[in-house]
Amino acid sequence: MLDQTRLRHPSLFNKIVTPEEASEYIKDGMNVGVSGFTPSGYPKKTTMALAKAIKAGKQCRINLWTGASVGPEIEEELASVGGIKSRMPYYAASNKSMRTGINNGEIDYIDQHLSHFAQHIDYGFFGDVDVAIVEAAAITEDGKIVLGPGVGNTPMLVKHAKHVIVEVNTTIPLSIEGMHDIYICAKPPLRREIPIYSANDRIGSPYMECGLDRIDCIVESDIIDHVRNLADPDEYSIKIAENLVEFLENEQRMGRLPKDQMLPMQSGVGSIANAVLLGLAKSKFENLTMYSEILQDSVFSLIKMGKIVSASGCAFTPSPKVWKMYKEDPDLYRKTITLRPLDISNHPEVIRRLGVIAMNTPIEFDIYGQANSTHVFGNSMMNGIGGSGDYMRNGFLTIFSTPSTAKGGSISSIVPMVTHADHTEHDTMVFITEQGVADIRGLSPIKRAKLIIEKCAHPDFKEPLYDYLKLSQRKNGHMPVDLNHAFDMQAQFARTGSMKK
Ligand code: COA
Repeated sequence: MLDQTRLRHPSLFNKIVTPEEASEYIKDGMNVGVSGFTPSGYPKKTTMALAKAIKAGKQCRINLWTGASVGPEIEEELASVGGIKSRMPYYAASNKSMRTGINNGEIDYIDQHLSHFAQHIDYGFFGDVDVAIVEAAAITEDGKIVLGPGVGNTPMLVKHAKHVIVEVNTTIPLSIEGMHDIYICAKPPLRREIPIYSANDRIGSPYMECGLDRIDCIVESDIIDHVRNLADPDEYSIKIAENLVEFLENEQRMGRLPKDQMLPMQSGVGSIANAVLLGLAKSKFENLTMYSEILQDSVFSLIKMGKIVSASGCAFTPSPKVWKMYKEDPDLYRKTITLRPLDISNHPEVIRRLGVIAMNTPIEFDIYGQANSTHVFGNSMMNGIGGSGDYMRNGFLTIFSTPSTAKGGSISSIVPMVTHADHTEHDTMVFITEQGVADIRGLSPIKRAKLIIEKCAHPDFKEPLYDYLKLSQRKNGHMPVDLNHAFDMQAQFARTGSMKK
């Protein structure tokens, strides 16, 4: 039940409406922005009511703008009734109807670097935000908003929104107040540097600006974020983590990383990234800091162990495990974590200044060091590029890690040529699989190819990859490719389910 702890100005109680009434603000063709990032801090009730209305005959297809993927109460509910016309800037494969709609061309999907989206809204590249729907823990007496665990692009969406609907979720602990640091960059030519000099610097406000007058209506919610469980570490991720730790320790020994304090780390999305980060628990590194996008479960475990002393992100993953840890010691997590808008957590300027060690998971990478984060066999969208481009382009040290094989060992994650290049040879430095580490810094293409096959490929696939390298070298050239043979190998997988010889 909403009370004065959540609605801190009396006038706010007059704005409470049903989800059905709130959903009437949303009309066909509108640009609708929602709070949240991954299934964290996103509104639920209004979109569920909208989906119900569409099912009952309301003509409405919206352009959905978010921070990243959000939960099924938005993505699945609306995509399954044909309520999504287009989607920006990210989506995740776990949302099945959205995935189907995007891959069969019914939903226009524009896959963006996540640091770009807020400023592109600010520059007016995509038109107005007709309605913003925001999930909040509370609204202050002067109309500022206490956000939940996912900030994403919410501040920019609200800044430009013609209508604002706030879903106040009574399940979000009020102790989250103070964890956020909301800062909006000025537009060029007035933009100045972003004054973050260490991962936990606070430069903005714990509250998101909105204003009592700008809030059109309020919906009460008690639905918790729908978080998919991450897989437990397996033999591959454990070995990858060991390889990572050994590599970083060597970088310190060689004087390429500071000896006394490790540079801030970024860790990508998904089970592998989560498990690999957790592997740092067994390392000798202490007082670790994170300057990351999403803070997954392992960050909470490492904070609890005292390994991580500060963590900056634009959201944390609110899994049952994470909430349990949070509720046991809210002060610890509130003081250690800073939640920022997505364009600040992923900002190239800050990533480069702090010297972030970026660690992400690709779907596949090729022998010349190009990585595919998004498309299976060049065709089918898995997940968007997310922030991987933001971090891998600007990090001090950039590391892609993945098991050397996928689909039960039948397909190599190291391929002759990526079927979709999200990260080109110009942006990559280090690749890690359970087999080993290929550090391609300063290497020309053929040297890179030999090292990647030698260190990262699974023994079952080394021979075909070396054979391919020999074939491509017949073509001469600086970075020789043999297109027929490169794609033959992938086509073989599509036909037979195996790339093995
Ligand atoms: N070929 C074909 N499919 C592959 C593959 C390959 N080489 N590698 C992985 N996959 C498939 C898996 O089989 C699985 O498919 P399924 O869901 O149908 O079973 C799916 O990709 C996800 O793989 P999973 O093993 O569950 O890994 P994950 O949860 O660690 O996610 C990515 C891996 C690549 C999908 C994820 O890291 C991602 O989205 N990366 C891109 C965005 C990004 O880097 N964001 C970070 C921003 S800061």
